[in-house]
Amino acid sequence: MAEADKEDMNKALFITVEGMDGSGKTTQFKLIEEYLVSRGRDVVAVRDPGGTRIGERIRNIILDPHLHEMDYITELMLCASSRAQLVRQIIKPALSEGKTVLCDRFIDSNIAYQGYGRDIGVDEIIRVNNLISENFNPDITFFFNLSPGEAVKRRKNQACDRMENEDMAFHEKVYAGYLKLAYDNPERIVNIDCTKDIESVFKDVSDVLDKKFKGEAV
Ligand code: TMP
Repeated sequence: MAEADKEDMNKALFITVEGMDGSGKTTQFKLIEEYLVSRGRDVVAVRDPGGTRIGERIRNIILDPHLHEMDYITELMLCASSRAQLVRQIIKPALSEGKTVLCDRFIDSNIAYQGYGRDIGVDEIIRVNNLISENFNPDITFFFNLSPGEAVKRRKNQACDRMENEDMAFHEKVYAGYLKLAYDNPERIVNIDCTKDIESVFKDVSDVLDKKFKGEAV
């Protein structure tokens, strides 16, 4: 392999963003993408569920507010199916080419929403995800931490999807799941306080990224 190609392989980086619906995650996602491009990274930005032709169709089923009868195991399997396609078609090939993959949600969402929110259990979620790829985790995860009460206030007047239509008890369980994940994985998950304005929140994110890329030529 040529030296330049080896350098590219070393650059491979997998970053995910997580948080409650309404936490401002999607705004921060776009800012992170711009930051990574400005650092000269070859960025592949995707979302989960979705991110592929097949995954986007599955996403429409998962979020369709009319499909209120959806069984929790069906929901889990649909999320996992979309992710299987995303990991195998896009994420793994991009990483093996030394690209930077930025993904809006990933397995942590599966653990928080289905494992904790739906009470399916964390071990079950990990077991299903190991079928997609064994112990495949991001290098860095930004958890945009906003309580469900605050998140709901920010979402008001917006049309709700099937997950957002769930009651506060569900969202509280999801949030508790995220807090536990962040507590258990401090080396990977960066807990970002989202009660502040957009610029201050992004400053906290870019400080972490600046440290990560310190010494790397732009
Ligand atoms: P978002 O793309 O607007 O963040 O919405 C995706 C929704 O899907 C969000 O409510 C979280 C939910 N979700 C799950 O329930 N399980 C999963 O595994 C993933 C990736 C997302």
